[in-house]
Amino acid sequence: MQLIQRQSAKAIQPKNETFECPEVLGAKHSVPLLDGRYVPQIFLDNAASTKPFKVVSDFLQEIQPYYSNIHRGTGFDSSFCTERYEQARRIVGDFVGWDSDRDVVIPVRNTTEGMNLLANTISFAPGDRVLTTILEHHSNDLPWRSKAKVEHLPINSEGQIDLEELERRLDPTKGRVRVVSMTGASNITGTVLPIHEIATLAHKYGALMVVDGAQLVPHRRVTMKPHTDPSHIDFLVFSGHKMNCPTGVGAVVGRRDIFSAAAPYQTGGGTISTVTVDSITWAAPPDRNEAGTPNVLGLLALARTIQVLEAVGMDAIDAHERELTALLLEKLNRIPQVKVLGSSNPEAMEKRVGAVSFTVEGVPHNLVAAILSFEWGIAVRNGTFCAQPLMKHLLNTNEDFICGSKSENAARLSGADGAVRASLGVHNTEQDIETLVEAVTSIAQKQWKGDYEQDAATGEYLPRGFRFDFSLLPGFSTEPILNNPILTPVRQGGLKLISPFPLVTVAGIGALLTTFWVYFW
Ligand SMILES: Cc1ncc(COP(=O)(O)O)c(C=O)c1O
Repeated sequence: MQLIQRQSAKAIQPKNETFECPEVLGAKHSVPLLDGRYVPQIFLDNAASTKPFKVVSDFLQEIQPYYSNIHRGTGFDSSFCTERYEQARRIVGDFVGWDSDRDVVIPVRNTTEGMNLLANTISFAPGDRVLTTILEHHSNDLPWRSKAKVEHLPINSEGQIDLEELERRLDPTKGRVRVVSMTGASNITGTVLPIHEIATLAHKYGALMVVDGAQLVPHRRVTMKPHTDPSHIDFLVFSGHKMNCPTGVGAVVGRRDIFSAAAPYQTGGGTISTVTVDSITWAAPPDRNEAGTPNVLGLLALARTIQVLEAVGMDAIDAHERELTALLLEKLNRIPQVKVLGSSNPEAMEKRVGAVSFTVEGVPHNLVAAILSFEWGIAVRNGTFCAQPLMKHLLNTNEDFICGSKSENAARLSGADGAVRASLGVHNTEQDIETLVEAVTSIAQKQWKGDYEQDAATGEYLPRGFRFDFSLLPGFSTEPILNNPILTPVRQGGLKLISPFPLVTVAGIGALLTTFWVYFW
């Protein structure tokens, strides 16, 4: 493998010299290019998922031998894990400024599960309304739709909602607003909403304030504030996999009384205090809301990740990412063919995080993303980012997008059926931005090497005659693993034991019989 060091047009001197990012696993590993070279990857898909901190991965390795199911085990390992699990819960709550008496931390798989949990826990009366915005990810929109009438507040050219319009909509004569559920930061435009001002208004009219923190919590210090403060957040939801924690865990932090008042959304082991054949008494939250064996190691990893983020400093992370985002916007603004979606003002960093989506005139978004990957080793995301109403607004189209038939869709929408998103994470550097901008500049000038064809089924662009070769990467080989024989299905029913030992035994018996036969014949 030929690893090429990236050449930069000019030497980059990071401005924020004090910022040190802990090692992020795989953030810079080498990836193949169309021309056969390998380069260190530039990972700019952090809004979808970040890669885990190495120290968190090491921590998981260390703790795994002690793993045991929690709460009612009496063994050493179970007692240990139970203690660490409850400690992790407190670390998660403290990170977002919970009130440990009045709030609970409920581990979930991700923000989507958290939002579904809330939509199925908060009580709604007929005619109730949920106010949200056009900025929302589908995960903070669809779960509410079967529970109440969902209204989407519009945004202005800066991507912000109008607080006066919000107050008008909160007017109870139009029907009770039970929940105001808004994103902390948009996954497309990066817009940060004034969540505490919104919460103050929501509380003035008796509504609950829910914040989708998926894109905010990883990048900024978020504090829920005391319950006595009208600007407090009632529920905050976020995902670990967007904040350098291994995937599979997130959290809902919020009001114990609301969870206490509702039957659990999912029922089963762990959720009850008493069960008879004809009655159930639910346990108190959070147990009530953690049906089945929880993701113990996931929550431990989340707590460890939070400790790493705290050690680096959320303010330092914020400052580092603001600097890089401003640089990216400033440079993209100079490419005439590029249009940044939402605000592209590099001076207005207070109001946004580093999710930067853009289109390149005359080049479909899926082709831009393919060229970035195959010719530059740059990982971005493209499409409509699970926020179709917002993309319709931003791309100024009345046509509906159709997931899974991008090819026809692109033709119908004259190519304006999505955008490219570069999203920054804690490990990114000024050099990453420089290389991305260099790549986008050349794509905008229609300069690329590959001959790309579009897959009719998926709409993806792929270079003709070239596919990534994953064969040397970890996989599920059926090779026998020493001391760990593995079972693989055989065609006509049953399981076949793949292990060197039976073969050795058969060969041994064969050799023995042959020897006897030759000797005695
Ligand atoms: C703003 C926002 N909310 C919710 C989600 C859903 O998060 P998850 O996929 O972790 O459930 C995302 C994911 O990208 C997001 O960006």
